[in-house]
Amino acid sequence: MKKTYLLTPGPTPVPENVLALAAKPILHHRTPQFMAVMAEVLEGLKYLFQTKQDVMMLTSSGTGAMDAAVTNLFKKGDKVITVNGGKFGERWTKIAKAYGLNPLEIKLEAGQSVKPSQIEELLTKNPDARGVLFTASETSTGTLMPTKEIAALVRSKPDCISVVDAITALGVFNLPMDDWGIDVLLTGSQKALMLPPGLACIALSEKAWRFNEKADLPRFYFDLAKERKGLSKGQTAWTPAVGLIVGLQETLKMIREESLETIFKRHDLLARATHAAVKAMGLEMLAKDAPSPSVTAVKVPAEIKEGKAIPKTMRDKYGVTIAGGQEELEGKIFRLTHLGYVEKFDILIGIGALELTLRDLGYKKFEFGAGTGAVLKTFAESHY
Ligand SMILES: Cc1ncc(COP(=O)(O)O)c(C=O)c1O
Repeated sequence: MKKTYLLTPGPTPVPENVLALAAKPILHHRTPQFMAVMAEVLEGLKYLFQTKQDVMMLTSSGTGAMDAAVTNLFKKGDKVITVNGGKFGERWTKIAKAYGLNPLEIKLEAGQSVKPSQIEELLTKNPDARGVLFTASETSTGTLMPTKEIAALVRSKPDCISVVDAITALGVFNLPMDDWGIDVLLTGSQKALMLPPGLACIALSEKAWRFNEKADLPRFYFDLAKERKGLSKGQTAWTPAVGLIVGLQETLKMIREESLETIFKRHDLLARATHAAVKAMGLEMLAKDAPSPSVTAVKVPAEIKEGKAIPKTMRDKYGVTIAGGQEELEGKIFRLTHLGYVEKFDILIGIGALELTLRDLGYKKFEFGAGTGAVLKTFAESHY
């Protein structure tokens, strides 16, 4: 028998009670029954985003909301600052270029976080910059970006907005949209929302809505003004992903029951336990200064020549699916995830499988059991 475990930064595991909802008859989206679901979901999303603004749902993966943010807010030729701390930050640059914007990219070394002073300097040199587009948690390197500080820098500028990809951040650590003055906040369903892929959520500040009135880029399906108009009647512009929204009603209920505060503490603890295990096994994290509480990127030790063998062995021999590195980091890192429907013992499983895998692959620079021991010790000492 082989039991399998999904410990990737997306898709993440879906709770059993949510999976069971897929067996229920499908609702029609223009009925009072579905409207009741929508009303509850829209309130729950405001709680999650910590905003009074409407949160719109798009039928797409997270990238759809990134695409929508660009086309609905900017004009051709607009100058925007993008933060490329990895594959997902780079995506902002690519989308901006695809729509004829003029991105000024800050390119960071893998595992490095952007300094607010770097943004400030570019904003000072480019007073005509219309936006700062960045990733709250850069999933490809496991690095946190200073969202609060960047939003604060942009907040006082009437002609510039902060656009935050919070795809592996929202529901993991604190990102109070209204309090911090974040202008655009977006996420995807297959992360901390604990759902299958296919739904993206995005909210805009009043300032961002004013940008929307002037935006002239081509768009049709992802038209946020049309979506907002629909929401005033509890409707989406097009046929929504009914099954995912019904699932979201349930996961938002779970989020409210646990409370954001406890959810943030849980993710922090799981990340700390993972960091302790990594250190105890003599391994090195890619993100030194600002590791993300969502995902821990670990450098493949020099003793293991074929880095891709780590996730492969964990999956094929031990049934634990983790992520490897992407693009230039392929074979150089592997990523341990502590995001979404994940609890203490999931971390123990992941680290246990990692210990066995490293031993199989000839890495012997640690006392067997050191990683799992460090996890247990962290849990025993925590008050969460
Ligand atoms: C930070 C971040 N941004 C963007 C994306 C892209 O999202 P999707 O694959 O849902 O389009 C991901 C996916 O892993 C991500 O982690």
